[in-house]
Amino acid sequence: MRLAGKVALVTGGASGIGRGVAIRFAEEGADVAVADVNRQGAEETAAEVRRLQTRGLAIEADVTSRADCERIVRETVASLGKLDIFVANAGIGRGAPFLELAEDDWEAVIRTNLTGVFLSCQAAARQMMGQGHGGRIITMASVAAERAMEWMAAYCASKGAVRMLTKVMALELAPHRITVNAIGPGVIDTPLAAPLIEMMKAAQAEIAPLGRVGEPKDVADLALFLASDEADYVTGGIIFVDGGLAIGPRRR
Ligand SMILES: NC(=O)c1ccc[n+]([C@@H]2O[C@H](COP(=O)([O-])OP(=O)(O)OC[C@H]3O[C@@H](n4cnc5c(N)ncnc54)[C@H](O)[C@@H]3O)[C@@H](O)[C@H]2O)c1
Repeated sequence: MRLAGKVALVTGGASGIGRGVAIRFAEEGADVAVADVNRQGAEETAAEVRRLQTRGLAIEADVTSRADCERIVRETVASLGKLDIFVANAGIGRGAPFLELAEDDWEAVIRTNLTGVFLSCQAAARQMMGQGHGGRIITMASVAAERAMEWMAAYCASKGAVRMLTKVMALELAPHRITVNAIGPGVIDTPLAAPLIEMMKAAQAEIAPLGRVGEPKDVADLALFLASDEADYVTGGIIFVDGGLAIGPRRR
């Protein structure tokens, strides 16, 4: 029970990686609030959390709204008492060749993946600072913060920016004993990555040097470490959980 007595809030927790993180945290004893635009999915995750004998809360919210970001923190604290761990995980992808990428798609990706992380982390950090006993913030970047990928200009730009935002937050929040780290997942089997996985399989492209697609649990296990007491001296980093994809391709 590595998170016994802790309260966590996970954005984008209705699906994929966010759901995996919420459940993994609950398995280790945390009470978990899940915020997502998808209310039904968030309710399902919260129900799974409650089945693990901890408290689970679903909140319908959009991380691109400052008011919603402030509300999810308020509602978490009102229902679960405090906020110890915040995971800024909500994200979207819009693939298109650079020359055909529509401005609306660019704006949507940057707004969700970057501005959403900024707004939600600001609200979470303010709450943690007020509590005065430190905290853990984890952002969901990507292997795309390290390695350029065709058709993913907006996505790569957003994740590269999240990586640098994470470092600045880590610097400024260190005096408050709030650690801030980014996770860089590779290709993980979720609805977001499904078209990419199909494309890569069809092209017999390398998914990862370790030779398999990742599962949400692979990412959740790393998030658990970063959220735990064992990671007390870890801040400002990005850790890839990508089967080696960020290193580069293997010789065939
Ligand atoms: N799956 C992968 O291969 C992969 C790889 C690297 C990084 N990531 C990142 O991991 C995170 C989770 O992705 P996933 O693969 O689990 O995708 P997913 O589509 O399964 O889940 C994303 C969740 O975010 C929610 N969401 C989207 N926009 C939102 C908003 N504005 N406000 C609140 N919630 C919103 C969605 O409703 C969904 O439940 C994303 O940030 C993604 O970029 C995923």
